[in-house]
Amino acid sequence: MAKLYINAGKKEGHINKEIQGHFSEHLGRCIYEGIYVGENSPIKNTNGMRDDVVAALKELEIPVLRWPGGCFADEYHWKDGIGPKETRKRMVNTHWGGVVEDNSFGTHEYMELCRQLGCKTYINGNVGSGTVQEMSEWVEYMTFKGISPMADLRAKNGHPDPWKIDYFGVGNENWGCGGNMTPEFYANEYRRYQTYVRNYGKKKKNAHKIQKICCGANVDDYYWTKGVLKTAFYHCPKGTHGFMDGLSLHYYVHPLGWKKKGSATDFDDKVWYMTMWKALYIEELIKRHGAIMDQYDPKKKVGMIIDEWGSWYTVEPGTNPGFLYQQNTMRDALIAGVSLNIFNKHCDRVKMANIAQIVNVLQAVILTEGEKMLLTPTYHVFHMYKCHQDAELVESSIVTEEIGLEKKYMIPNLNESASIGTDGKLHITLNNLSITEDYPIDAEIIDFDTTKVSAEILTNEMHAMNTFDAPETVKPSVFDKIETGNGRLKFTIPACSVMSITVG
Ligand code: AHR
Repeated sequence: MAKLYINAGKKEGHINKEIQGHFSEHLGRCIYEGIYVGENSPIKNTNGMRDDVVAALKELEIPVLRWPGGCFADEYHWKDGIGPKETRKRMVNTHWGGVVEDNSFGTHEYMELCRQLGCKTYINGNVGSGTVQEMSEWVEYMTFKGISPMADLRAKNGHPDPWKIDYFGVGNENWGCGGNMTPEFYANEYRRYQTYVRNYGKKKKNAHKIQKICCGANVDDYYWTKGVLKTAFYHCPKGTHGFMDGLSLHYYVHPLGWKKKGSATDFDDKVWYMTMWKALYIEELIKRHGAIMDQYDPKKKVGMIIDEWGSWYTVEPGTNPGFLYQQNTMRDALIAGVSLNIFNKHCDRVKMANIAQIVNVLQAVILTEGEKMLLTPTYHVFHMYKCHQDAELVESSIVTEEIGLEKKYMIPNLNESASIGTDGKLHITLNNLSITEDYPIDAEIIDFDTTKVSAEILTNEMHAMNTFDAPETVKPSVFDKIETGNGRLKFTIPACSVMSITVG
């Protein structure tokens, strides 16, 4: 019997809803076809955005959407994507698949998408191939209220009112596709570029402030984190925290490594456990990068922003290798489940995370094919976890046993997190990482009335997925086999499953 312990009276931090954020890039069929089909499409749309996709994302209550990239961001020149569509520059998306980019989705369309979704905005600026002036004018174009060259241009293009930028990324992966910089060089560039990411009207009381995100490390590049923070914090005025509100971290799970990656759908038991081990590894990255951040920012004013995470497999056979289109199985559901639990547990430092990417790319929550759309297992996990958005993390722990098939890739069988939601209820999300064993659980709940309990479960065989012919093979169902009494919950969690329990 596995012991689960929850002390609902011991609050451990606020879970920013942005931890369940998303990422969209001009890559493959993410923006074009996946989200934006244009006003004249036979696919039902509102101002060009697919109604089916927007409705599904609204149901997830997605808190924030990062755009326009990714590597695309450091090649993107925003002025190409404004003004009448017929005059917008047509160009080749050199980074992703060499296809024509007609710039029909630009700043106005992104802001319209966020309006329809009701989510926060996260724009990623161009440091790699752009100028300080270009970045500064983009911010002016989007946010300046009053008379100015960029505000006038925005009005001429049909939007007199400014928009709000919630987060602004100053470059992306500048250690790689964003300019192949050294940490010190980038950090100096960061200091310079961010100076001109202005908060217009900031002198007014309660004025909105753009959260500036500095480019952080890839995976375990601790050298980058140290170098960037050392330079950014060097003689920075008191209270500016290295001129940043967030520092990013990118981590993808490639089951067979970066080169081989591995199939999204055809994998054996060994690869399953190897994948889970790699998914759980994100916790070590959070701790070790977090420890370096603590040296410069002990009060945790700077958020760790995991703005690219998820599985990255070999593309689906027959698809453009530059489009990064992959299927999504129960394995992805478990990757999402454990990652979101880990982010919750580190909510003192992790302030935002954006799964890559929202539609049709990598670990997508939605796949489309022409006018058809399906929800992936990962979508359902986000739906089951939305109870944690803006919730208060509470103390929890579970007694686990080691499982696996290879010494190097042994993992704990169970993984959990718990919070008190904005609805005042206790929410427990629990994963069983074994593909063969069900586990009886004995949960002791302190400081919370356990008389009323309900639960949902997502479970299936490890390869199970949703296809356009069978879109509902994997979907959550009600789990009503929980016994309650004396402050305890007793139940058995089936193999290969994600569970969300609501108490209260
Ligand atoms: O998400 C795909 C790519 O992965 C992004 O463009 C880049 O930032 C990362 O390397």
